[in-house]
Amino acid sequence: MRAAPRQRYAATVRWAHWLTVLAVAAAYLLVELGDDDEHGGSAGTAMQAHYLAGLVVLGLLLVRVLGMALGPRPPIVPAPGPLSVLAARVMHLALYLFLLAQPVLGILAVNYAGGTVTLPWSGMSLLALVHADPGAREFVEELHESLGEILYGVIGLHVAAALWHHFVKGDNTLRRML
Ligand code: HEM
Ligand code: HEM
Repeated sequence: MRAAPRQRYAATVRWAHWLTVLAVAAAYLLVELGDDDEHGGSAGTAMQAHYLAGLVVLGLLLVRVLGMALGPRPPIVPAPGPLSVLAARVMHLALYLFLLAQPVLGILAVNYAGGTVTLPWSGMSLLALVHADPGAREFVEELHESLGEILYGVIGLHVAAALWHHFVKGDNTLRRML
């Protein structure tokens, strides 16, 4: 007898998803509280906590990609049409790319400014990946900032899609992630 398909994502995937939401929100909030002219060792606690939140996002991305690769994806019932499936694929790929690019660009921004990523309350620093380079610093900082703004829109669309599935279509898309 075949086992019934799983109704929700695996617990690791669900936890990683909602902790990512918290960590991304924290990164946005903390960067507003911090002074983004401070870098690495000279950065204040809020900015260091912004680095930490971003590193947590990166760590959770690894957990969830592994979780997704190892576990089956629970089916959406009733099944969405091909256009909907394609839109979701594009959207999720964009989210994954942002979740990877944003922390990496943040780390490079600190290193190109001649600093190291210092963790709050511990004084611990990560090894620098690249040497100081003012030209590259400007480019990477602007990219990090612009992606941060675009990411707001992508997250907005993603949340709107999740709510639309739940409240308008009445399918189980959202319940699979709860
Ligand atoms: C998902 C993760 C992250 C998000 C959403 C994010 C978002 C942002 C945003 C929106 C800004 C611009 C703030 C402003 O100018 O008003 C910013 C600045 C900054 N972030 Fe992040 N960040 C993330 C991860 C990181 C990480 C991991 C680091 C370093 C380890 C980092 C380092 C910086 C630095 C140094 C700045 C100031 C320089 C700049 O304007 O680009 N960020 N971040
Ligand atoms: C910072 C905010 C968020 C980020 C970065 C994020 C990111 C992601 C990513 C990368 C996926 C994986 C898709 C896959 O590979 O199947 C996903 C799935 C999902 N997210 Fe989010 N999400 C966020 C907020 C939310 C919120 C607020 C909701 C609910 C209102 C939500 C509902 C869902 C649902 C239902 C899925 C499963 C979609 C499916 O299986 O087709 N997300 N999210």
